[in-house]
Amino acid sequence: MPVFRRAKRWLALLSLLSLSSILLAACGENSPSILDTAGPVAASESSLFWLILGISIVIFVLVEGILIFSIIRYRERPGMPNPFQNHGNLKLELVWTVIPTLVLFVILFFTIRGLLYVAPENEPAASASQPRMEVTAVGHQWWWEFYYPNYHVTTADTLEVPVNTTVHVKLFSNNVIHSFWVPALTGKTDVVPGHDNTKWFVAQKEGTYTGICAEYCGTQHANMRFNVKVVNNNDFQTWVSSQQQAATAPTDPLAQKGAALFKNQCASCHGIVGVNLKQFYDTAQECSDLPGGKANGTPQCLIGPNLTHFGSRNLIAGGVLDNNTENGNCDPNNPKLTQQCNLAKWLKDPQGVKPGNDMNIGELTNDQIQQLVAYLEGLK
Ligand code: CUA
Repeated sequence: MPVFRRAKRWLALLSLLSLSSILLAACGENSPSILDTAGPVAASESSLFWLILGISIVIFVLVEGILIFSIIRYRERPGMPNPFQNHGNLKLELVWTVIPTLVLFVILFFTIRGLLYVAPENEPAASASQPRMEVTAVGHQWWWEFYYPNYHVTTADTLEVPVNTTVHVKLFSNNVIHSFWVPALTGKTDVVPGHDNTKWFVAQKEGTYTGICAEYCGTQHANMRFNVKVVNNNDFQTWVSSQQQAATAPTDPLAQKGAALFKNQCASCHGIVGVNLKQFYDTAQECSDLPGGKANGTPQCLIGPNLTHFGSRNLIAGGVLDNNTENGNCDPNNPKLTQQCNLAKWLKDPQGVKPGNDMNIGELTNDQIQQLVAYLEGLK
């Protein structure tokens, strides 16, 4: 029954196509793409992708075309003689060895050119039109800490940088291997304990870009996200000046209770400049969070993020939750605080939100959550 067999084959092909469309549909609008670039490093990497794709398409069409032509033109028909045997034909053997070799050399040339372009040694020097800044990105399990050595500021989850500036990133980990990846701005570089890599990128468009940890680093590897927020130079300077300030003591009685609670119960893991820390510091230089305590004679790091300006941040808990203070969600008097405010949800059940993370705290009462939300969201 050839008709039946043909129908079955078409059915298989159709179901394969519809399956792949479901898979592709998962690539939503917010998912970062290496093809939607906002800076020269990512652009050079995606141009390599397009070049290889272009070459592959030409080869695919050519080879499949010749194959299909031969299948039809030289198919077996009754009474046909044996086809011409050309086994061991030197000319043909040379042609199909030399052409692929040349193609691979072309790809090798452009790959090496791309590697050299993005290499740390070829980071552009600072100029008037494109200044340079440094940042240390520290990979924790499972969140990113960012320290700005020129400004002496520490933050978490969002790396804020000025537009059209060469950002020199020192990558540091003293736990496991992570990988720093911002698809729209730069490719992946491993963050290896004991081997401090560096990388650079330039953002040419203002906006917020998603960053991802691209090396499996434990249970919450997929939830080790961050944002790169690219702003104009004035906004960046304003942001830096506000971040450099110590936290202001709250005046609201509820927030004051939250501050007292923080000092009692949270300060062994989290730092706030002006409360339990005198200043921001570079954990990559000045402390160690290796399990078990001190290493290299440096003091042990606080295990959690610095919260000095928590209320000004957009993300919580390594990018798992938005800091959704809009619409009065995190107004301490919101009767649905623990359902609507992400910070309250996090404080109520950190292990439920992000299982396996280091925030192992006893259960907080709703009053305590309300006080902590009032205090932390007030830390602008
Ligand atoms: Cu850090 Cu995966």
